[in-house]
Amino acid sequence: MSHQTPTAAQAAGPARPRVLSGIQATADSFHFGNYLGALRQWVDLQEDYQPFFFIADLHALTVPQDPKALRERFYRCAAQLIAMGIDPDRSALFVQSHVPEHTQLTWVLECITGFGEARRMTQFKDKSAKEGESAASVGLFAYPILQAADILLYRPKYVPVGEDQRQHLELTRDLAQRFNHRYKKTFPLPEPYILKSTGRITDLQNPTAKMSKTNSSASGIVEMLDEPKVSAKKIRSAVTDSQAQVRYDDEGQPGISNLLTIYSALTGTKVADLEQQYAGKGYGDFKGDLAEVVVDFVTPFRDRTNELLDDRAELDGVLRRGAEQAREVASRTLAEVYDRVGLVRPTL
Ligand code: TRP
Repeated sequence: MSHQTPTAAQAAGPARPRVLSGIQATADSFHFGNYLGALRQWVDLQEDYQPFFFIADLHALTVPQDPKALRERFYRCAAQLIAMGIDPDRSALFVQSHVPEHTQLTWVLECITGFGEARRMTQFKDKSAKEGESAASVGLFAYPILQAADILLYRPKYVPVGEDQRQHLELTRDLAQRFNHRYKKTFPLPEPYILKSTGRITDLQNPTAKMSKTNSSASGIVEMLDEPKVSAKKIRSAVTDSQAQVRYDDEGQPGISNLLTIYSALTGTKVADLEQQYAGKGYGDFKGDLAEVVVDFVTPFRDRTNELLDDRAELDGVLRRGAEQAREVASRTLAEVYDRVGLVRPTL
């Protein structure tokens, strides 16, 4: 056996099942919830799968965005994905809007989606219930159908997503089944690969709530691109519990449990080993050490991201290659779909 790094073509060999996932670039920086809860698993999936990972920029448009900020975030998102270990030689890393087949397949799927079925999807339902139906765009209404198209174009075996995306996966499977039944078997049913619950990272100040851009306060969230000093300070002032023992107990001690999860995820040390190491020590010692671990982790990540951001032409090139790989697969699927529904393609 050769020990050379596989070429992109080898890595894309048929032996590896495909996985696909997407992420929106709606913030200037990813936070620990994004990274430890989901993106870190994307990096690991590269070992055994053939991954398609994309930036869901069209999905970002379903709510109002400032064009300049969106553009900047797009580059930051791409740079961070690469800096955290998404390797463009092993994964097709691309941008949704660079592959027009996503919107093209969306239309066909919209035509087999019931109006009521789409209206029941929680994102749209919640927003229109809260702010009135006219506050939600038709784009937001169609959001899950675009997501179904994102997935089905690549016929992935697994779709690694968080628990909150389960409903979208269900719709995707329903639409795939309906299409297969109405026309001809075209889409294998993708399975959700729900990311491990140990990846659930909570708010540092409110440790029973998920760490999230929209719900957490600035001090509750560790931003990957923040000044490392700032993140260290947030860790040191994280809310802990009253038992003064470094012990994992999700319910009784949510604060220290969250910090143990972070410590374990960043160092690869088992939680049980950490508990042993800190037996008899206080929260202060533990938090001080974790602050250092965090600084050691974010510093090179941030440097690498900034380095990548300094060469946008290089980033553009990486994404262009990713889109080419994606289009090869996506255009074949779309052509089959057009045939099956009875659209006649133009002759050349
Ligand atoms: N809706 C997903 C999220 O908010 C992002 C997404 C868009 C996605 N298209 C996808 C995830 C396709 C998996 C597969 O997290």
